[in-house]
Amino acid sequence: MRIGVAKEIKPDEYRVALTPAGGRELRQHGHDVIVEAGAGAGSAFPDADYEAVGARLAPVEEVWETADLVLKVKEPLPEEYPRLRDGQVLFTYLHLAADKRLTEALLESGATCIAYETVETDRGELPLLAPMSEVAGRLAAQAGAYFLEKPLGGRGLLLGGVAGVAPGRVVVVGGGMVGYNSAIVALGLGAQVRILDKSIDRLRYLEQILSGRVELVMSSRLEIEYSVVEADVVIGAVLVPGARAPKLVSREMIREMKEGAVVCDVSIDQGGCFETSKPTTHSDPVYVVDGVTHYCVANMPGAVPITSTFALTNVTLPYVELIADRGVREAIAENPVLARGVNVIDGKLTYEAVAAAHGLEYSPLDDLFRLESV
Ligand SMILES: NC(=O)c1ccc[n+]([C@@H]2O[C@H](COP(=O)([O-])OP(=O)(O)OC[C@H]3O[C@@H](n4cnc5c(N)ncnc54)[C@H](O)[C@@H]3O)[C@@H](O)[C@H]2O)c1
Repeated sequence: MRIGVAKEIKPDEYRVALTPAGGRELRQHGHDVIVEAGAGAGSAFPDADYEAVGARLAPVEEVWETADLVLKVKEPLPEEYPRLRDGQVLFTYLHLAADKRLTEALLESGATCIAYETVETDRGELPLLAPMSEVAGRLAAQAGAYFLEKPLGGRGLLLGGVAGVAPGRVVVVGGGMVGYNSAIVALGLGAQVRILDKSIDRLRYLEQILSGRVELVMSSRLEIEYSVVEADVVIGAVLVPGARAPKLVSREMIREMKEGAVVCDVSIDQGGCFETSKPTTHSDPVYVVDGVTHYCVANMPGAVPITSTFALTNVTLPYVELIADRGVREAIAENPVLARGVNVIDGKLTYEAVAAAHGLEYSPLDDLFRLESV
């Protein structure tokens, strides 16, 4: 199969969908790899590194025109819609529920479009989303520590304290992938850490792996109120699958916080879990409400493209190999985890939540495949 790697054109996006190491694996499997010139530059992979593993460099037109499977990181932008074609496979983050125009463009293209974020295990885990949550969680703790510094508008507190001086308090609301990763970095910095989660199973698991190093509390409005008021840093990391984030921290709670405290709303991509949150960017990451610094960057992993590119491609490569080795239809038929990632195939919308979000017709993938085998 010919696998094409397109350069990302979204502003501030520096990741690339395939590392040279991944290119080497695909070449080893006998596939043709064609990389848009400059695609890896933002992640510190010069073109020569791809050529060295047997990939071919090409202009953007050739990548899209000749590739059977196009790999990207972000969803196609309008100038990329006409490049997609019938029979092609697109594998990338799509987030179609948020974008009807893109959904319609993909349906019209005739391409098979598989979304990283809906590839889902039998236990409901999202393996291609998890690494970005790891990155964002770790960054949130770093951002919290950084914006506590006085010249940046913070309280003027060193999160880890020093000998004889108490450390700062970090409160993490939501102890999933983001929350756990925030907690371990905050712990590493020497902070005192509390995680609130509403899942008792998750709290039990966190107790096993963190064994007494973190305070673990069942989440409730009252416990959140107590915790937030005492905190130097609050990290919002909740997720209710398929829904907007619940507003767990009210404006009144923010008003009660210490002057110069920091809140990092990682859940901002789902609307945010602080009442006072609004999305920010890496170039202008914070704003202040009632004396509290708000960090609400919606694409946090974009700040560390080298780490994020490796973290992403580590988990996508096995699926890329599967699609390339077997062909997309056989790969989908034999791997239900990958099959859940299929959002669009043969001009049909096969992801129910996306169809519901846009009032479009939903065609279950199983039905399409059953018809095919009749
Ligand atoms: N801003 C960014 O750049 C960025 C990057 C990655 C992920 N995210 C977002 O971070 C959020 C968390 O992602 P994740 O991968 O950790 O999800 P996850 O499913 O692993 O964890 C979410 C946790 O929230 C808990 N939760 C749900 N409701 C709660 C409540 N009322 N109180 C306390 N806990 C509650 C759940 O029990 C779960 O443990 C998501 O919205 C995700 O989209 C943002």
